[in-house]
Amino acid sequence: MSWLSIQQAIEKKTGTVSIRGWVYRERGSNKLKFLVLRDATNIIQCIFEKTNFAEEEWNALDKIQIEASIEIKGTIKKDDRAPTGFEVNVESFNIIGLSDTFPITKDQSKEFLADNRHLWIRSRKQTAILKIRSTVFGAIHEYFRTNDFYEYQSPIFQSTQCEGGSSLFEVNYFGKKLFLAQTWQLFAEAGIFSLEKIYTIAPSFRAEKSKTSRHLTEYWHAEMEGAWFSFKDIQDHGEALIKYVVKNVLDKNKPELELLERDTKILKTTLEKPFARITYTEALELLEKKFNKKVSWGKDLRTIEENKLSELYDTPIIITNYPKIVKAFYMKENKEDPNVVHGFDCVAPEGYGELIGGSERESDIEKIEKRLLDEGENLADYKFYLDTRRYGSIPHAGFGLGAERLISWICKLENIKDAIAFPRTPLRYAP
Ligand code: 4AD
Ligand code: MG
Repeated sequence: MSWLSIQQAIEKKTGTVSIRGWVYRERGSNKLKFLVLRDATNIIQCIFEKTNFAEEEWNALDKIQIEASIEIKGTIKKDDRAPTGFEVNVESFNIIGLSDTFPITKDQSKEFLADNRHLWIRSRKQTAILKIRSTVFGAIHEYFRTNDFYEYQSPIFQSTQCEGGSSLFEVNYFGKKLFLAQTWQLFAEAGIFSLEKIYTIAPSFRAEKSKTSRHLTEYWHAEMEGAWFSFKDIQDHGEALIKYVVKNVLDKNKPELELLERDTKILKTTLEKPFARITYTEALELLEKKFNKKVSWGKDLRTIEENKLSELYDTPIIITNYPKIVKAFYMKENKEDPNVVHGFDCVAPEGYGELIGGSERESDIEKIEKRLLDEGENLADYKFYLDTRRYGSIPHAGFGLGAERLISWICKLENIKDAIAFPRTPLRYAP
């Protein structure tokens, strides 16, 4: 028996097909029964006529509820009334697993769906998002590999912070205090002395208590680091990477974007136009001029300000040259103006916030040491990192992209939690 996926069966259009999957909908009378079957690829209507089956077979059909698994052999034909334009007239079937009454029905609360996430991921909406997620991950790997980056991994158990102590998760490591990785960065900066151009996609952890639609406590982080890379090089890579991912999704996930009712106009514009690039200072001027919003120089841009700026553009915006005081200790001081650093954030259109954070790295060991001491850190803990500046230091730069942020925007999701199968937030850690 050679099984076809539902999509392959639909593409075959006529003749005998053997398909299998789960019952998505069911209804019937005492002469005819309609099951809509789903698998990973699509759904299809299947018709059972009583006259084709023995008494006990027909009775067995009555036990079938939504989400029962079943194998079906029958003849496929076009029928415009069927949900996906085709239907299968069933000749024989084999029930594989009956289903209890499926708890998920229409109009359930977000809480209920989150409690039943393990079942909810079977829904067509979640399946579509998970497929797009798979494309996004594949495209990130492909982008870096075709540009001659090596895949490289950092430890997840780490003894230092990198993105500020307040969002660290502590782990009791045989009686010692360690942290879950916020980023691979410090280990990546060591790794480029071996491999020069490296990337990863790995989980990062942030103990952020804020309940927002764009923060997870565990998220997937695509990061890159390059020896000899300039500040401009990483902005160019960030832009090219986002374009590459969006193009892949547009090429491969048309049905999923349709199912999600995503208007793809802005995704297409993102491919066609260069991203807006402005400095932090220019961003403040725009906020004041266009929205009458005064932000004093030296304050970080908040979500509301990023959202306002995103209204002005139909591409992502690369904002550069942030004040040193709002950015991390490792960012390179600007030669012309020591109050700003060579750091950038790439902000998504449509109010989806920061997609990428990156910077050129400070090469002056004394400046790094001073910043660490100012933050109350113990320099001995950072010896492995400071050694990168002691043994053949080179100019270098890198960035991190939040996979779920990018997926949220591409799919235009209401909440970042839907961009991952099993989201983790301060209040949501099971299932
Ligand atoms: O801006 P961040 O904190 O930068 C870093 O971690 C650098 N060390 C990266 C590097 O240069 N290698 O985080 C990078 C990106 C953000 O732009 C955002 O997209 C995502 O990670 N991110 C989160 N995504 C979901 N939930 C959270 N709590 C996130 N925090 C950051
Ligand atoms: Mg950031």
